[in-house]
Amino acid sequence: MKKFIISLSILLIGSTFCMYAQSNKQNKVTTTETYRPVYHFTPDSMWMNDPNGLVYYKGVYHLFYQYYPHATVWGPMHWGHATSHDLVHWKHLPIALYPDSLGYIFSGSAVVDYNNTSGLGTKNNPPLVAIFAYDNPVLANSGSNKFQYIGMAYSLDNGKTWTKYAKNPIVHNPGVRDFRDSKVIWDTQIHQWIMTIAAGDEVQFYASSNLLHWTFQSGFGKSIGAHGGVWECPDLFPLKVNGGKQTKWVLLVSINPGGPNGGSATQYFVGNFNGHQFTPSDTQTRWIDYGKDDYAGVTWSDIPVKDGRRIFLGWMSNWQYGTQVPTVKWRSAMTFPRTLSLVKDNGSYVLESRPIREIAKLHAKSVTIKPLQITGMKNITTSVPFALSPMEMNITFHVGTKTENRFGIQLSNDMNEKLIVGYDAVKKQLFVDRRKSGIVSFSPDFPAIVTAPCVLKNHQLKLHILIDAASIEVFAQNRTTVLTDIFFPTKPYNQLSLFVKNSTISVNHFQMWQLQ
Ligand code: FRU
Repeated sequence: MKKFIISLSILLIGSTFCMYAQSNKQNKVTTTETYRPVYHFTPDSMWMNDPNGLVYYKGVYHLFYQYYPHATVWGPMHWGHATSHDLVHWKHLPIALYPDSLGYIFSGSAVVDYNNTSGLGTKNNPPLVAIFAYDNPVLANSGSNKFQYIGMAYSLDNGKTWTKYAKNPIVHNPGVRDFRDSKVIWDTQIHQWIMTIAAGDEVQFYASSNLLHWTFQSGFGKSIGAHGGVWECPDLFPLKVNGGKQTKWVLLVSINPGGPNGGSATQYFVGNFNGHQFTPSDTQTRWIDYGKDDYAGVTWSDIPVKDGRRIFLGWMSNWQYGTQVPTVKWRSAMTFPRTLSLVKDNGSYVLESRPIREIAKLHAKSVTIKPLQITGMKNITTSVPFALSPMEMNITFHVGTKTENRFGIQLSNDMNEKLIVGYDAVKKQLFVDRRKSGIVSFSPDFPAIVTAPCVLKNHQLKLHILIDAASIEVFAQNRTTVLTDIFFPTKPYNQLSLFVKNSTISVNHFQMWQLQ
């Protein structure tokens, strides 16, 4: 079959760069849509940050999000709303929660109150309950420390419309400036609701039998973990270790600034939770994603037991430059949803993140590249037309016995813009180099080599990569090391190359899927 080089194929297929696959906007191609992802969630227009109120009910995944409908920069927060039947195709819905006299609607969670413990619905029609933070700008300006507190709203029509609880707030501020981002779970061990709240640079746990009245249990984190900034958007949930019988609790805590590559990032702790207190298994600081662009991520509530997954979604940006990225009509996307699992590796508990299996629904054609040896730089050609975005890639590098210096993958265009995903064998680091990836000058914090510690196993580096119009998510070494980074080339990348410096390297597994 005739060989096309990838750059040619891109022209043949037409640019996916401006295409917008969210359900109500098919085929809409305008210049304001440049960088619109094809399979990552974005708001239809205007500003979005954290995912909020992730909940599954009656076959529908709900995604609420921090939303400012009047500008493409942060402003008085609302909860935007979208729903999906498969976590892949999303439908935009009207704004769910508007600011009111108690304040802006900051981040929080949602649960199905199946037993109607709150009395806000009935057993036959259980309420969906959203538990969010209020941020009161009037109190903040008056110099009070108590301008953030926790409120509630409920829906009796499957999440379509919401009523604010008449006796808000449900948790008063104990005198902590940053007191927000309530995440609620039903603790099946001791049959009570547990709320985790970020409070300064620690978290606080509260318990309740009815979602309305909450009692402080304990604080966690003052002397453990990263403390380069305030703690935000916690999430607490149990996971089976290696899918077996043992259960450990995972506590996610986002931090801004103070991430491993600067700005915002999400750390996690693994330990035990007895309904009152969280006890970590060790004092190690771990990061769910080393990339610069995965923040405020939390997991879905009420995924059916027979499904059993713990599904995570993060905001794919960074507070260092989130309000400056060069999109016109909207700002920010979410990560692709990920399934989290817990593995015990060398006596230590580690989270594995993998793209949800529903990604297979997006698979169009697949291309397998035969095993190959690389010396220097090698441009990859495919036997069928293949665009570099949107796509999914699995690739395994075999480094032999000699220690190669640096090797990896380069995406580039004829503007000499390039994005590099590589491994530095001397530093034992995986990296994404976006210094020359395209438009980078909007913030001094954007051009960067983003790194993650990463040790080769059996002389191999296994990468699973998701690429969309303006993002790359790299899952390495069985997906325990993750790097998520955004980029803005002035023209789509149309050349894929593999490279190695100072050595020869072999690639023994290399498969790509076009996504649609
Ligand atoms: C995290 C965060 C939250 C807060 C929200 C405000 O990105 O700062 O702590 O609730 O964003 O939009």
